[in-house]
Amino acid sequence: MCGIVGYLGKNRDAYPILIKGLKRLEYRGYDSAGVALINEDGDLSVYKTKGKVADLEEFCTDKDITGHIGIAHTRWATHGEPSSVNAHPHYSQSKNLAIIHNGIIENYAEIKHNLMEKGIEFQSETDTEVLVQLIDYIQTKKNLSLLMAVQVALHQVIGAYAIALLDKRHPDTIIAARKQSPLVVGIGDGEFFLGSDASPIIEYTDKVVYLDDGNIAVMKLGEELKVVNILNEKLSPEVQTVDINLGQIEKGGYPHFMLKEIFEQPACLTNCMRGRINVEHDRVTLSALIDHRSKLLNAKRIIIVACGTSWHAGLIGKQMIETFCRIPVEVEYASEFRYRNPVVGESDVVIAISQSGETADTLAAVELAKSRGAFIYGICNAIGSSIPRATDTGTYIHVGPEIGVASTKAFTGQVTVLTMFALALADAKGTVSHDEYVKTVKELAQIPAMIKDLLKVNDQIADMARTFTYARNFLYLGRGFSYPVALEGALKLKEISYIHAEGYPAAEMKHGPIALIDSDMPVVAIATHNGMYEKVRSNIQEIKARQGRVIAIVTKGDTTISKIADAVIELPDTMDCLEPLVATIPLQLLAYHIAVCKGKDVDQPRNLAKSVTVE
Ligand code: AGP
Ligand code: GLU
Repeated sequence: MCGIVGYLGKNRDAYPILIKGLKRLEYRGYDSAGVALINEDGDLSVYKTKGKVADLEEFCTDKDITGHIGIAHTRWATHGEPSSVNAHPHYSQSKNLAIIHNGIIENYAEIKHNLMEKGIEFQSETDTEVLVQLIDYIQTKKNLSLLMAVQVALHQVIGAYAIALLDKRHPDTIIAARKQSPLVVGIGDGEFFLGSDASPIIEYTDKVVYLDDGNIAVMKLGEELKVVNILNEKLSPEVQTVDINLGQIEKGGYPHFMLKEIFEQPACLTNCMRGRINVEHDRVTLSALIDHRSKLLNAKRIIIVACGTSWHAGLIGKQMIETFCRIPVEVEYASEFRYRNPVVGESDVVIAISQSGETADTLAAVELAKSRGAFIYGICNAIGSSIPRATDTGTYIHVGPEIGVASTKAFTGQVTVLTMFALALADAKGTVSHDEYVKTVKELAQIPAMIKDLLKVNDQIADMARTFTYARNFLYLGRGFSYPVALEGALKLKEISYIHAEGYPAAEMKHGPIALIDSDMPVVAIATHNGMYEKVRSNIQEIKARQGRVIAIVTKGDTTISKIADAVIELPDTMDCLEPLVATIPLQLLAYHIAVCKGKDVDQPRNLAKSVTVE
């Protein structure tokens, strides 16, 4: 969480670049925002306020915002309430230094206690302030350069961080460091940019360096980027070219990123399959499977680790891999897996799924599985992020930047990659018949066109949403491949509309949730012709018998369920295993429109952040 931006140059003003950058990173946290600038007279000023970046701009209207060097932050609070005092940047006591930080300093209490005994006074409740006070204390006490003081301080720190520091005595330098939280340096012509991801940078340069754990970057005017480690050994960073365009990170006429991203799905899934599915020859080719054929073919077991929506994609992947490849698959919450001393070893393949590629729990699960000798395969979206870099191999979903906090196109991208993976592996193992393989590949290639057509249901769902805003609880039911879709539909609704929603396997309803059914309880039932149609139809009857209100997701042309349900959404007919790719779309739209009707902040729901880089 938290967005970090930095700028250092000669000719441009830092402030507008920092504010624009913060807006791009606001999806990472939006409790408070702040900026630190050094002006031409060498004054270091910090301006910060509770609220969003727009509140910071308002706050700065009468301030001195001049200067060609600065750092800025948008916060997702971990230590200390979201308030102006706890907002970043934080000064050191001498006010020579200012810091911004993304992560958690786990031993902050102990360090704070020691520093307070030495007479240092703290302004905030954050763990971050401890770091800047420690660096200043070490620098002054031992008369060290800022870089050396940072190195000594980071030796004492336990936890995760991406930090950037300004020192008013060196108005031509920014020092940044990372451990487990992302940081990207942009290299311009005589200028440097810094960001938690590349989005604040791409407008100015496409040359970037993704810092690795343990890297400390020194950006100094008139000098090349210098990267060292904590022991001051010089490292040679790899300069990469980013391939994101501005259109991908702007709303493009849509009222919200979430709606834009829902509507992008046909194009995104086409991109995801490009070069991987060859319809002429009915083949799926994944380079990971070519490069690591024997490792993947001989897997005795597959363990999928992920969080949230990515975990739901994993549940679909399990059914897909077990159906086609006959390999047992376990799906684990990464946060549980990492702390449970799991049984995992050399004969296992671990699949890590993550949109951001930065989720701290998933990254830690990957590191744990790696240390036990498992082979790690990543399914990620953010290119160059930490998880793909920590894995042995993987497949990018290539759906473009996802900005809305509620994940939509990444989910369908993940499911598409898992489908391609299962098909390619099954073909290589000989566990799928040629006919079944060809039929599924052909049908998968048709999914983007089906979604494009299905999206016409948007207006119908917008109307329907108005009649359901009264609800305080929702139940989502599905079976087989549709069960994870029910979980995902419920998650979408709760995260953006703040309506309590539960996803259940339809048959489990009678073991408990049925007690909740009454006329105030809408139930979304996925009841398509595939799977267990008759069984789910009976479940719908049971709900209606108890006055529940049913929104049924049915296959086009269904005449039976439409007679008993209160509202019906029709899906194109497709294969059972591919149905999640279409059934998810109306559920995304339903959650979106209910949240809009309720006047909620769809792209930045309360308490959440897009990239969960803390535990
Ligand atoms: C999805 O709508 C959520 N905001 C959240 O559950 C998310 O899927 C989860 O935090 C995992 O993120 P990742 O895919 O970037 O690892
Ligand atoms: N721990 C810091 C704070 O609470 C940074 C939080 C974060 O990166 O999410 O201010």
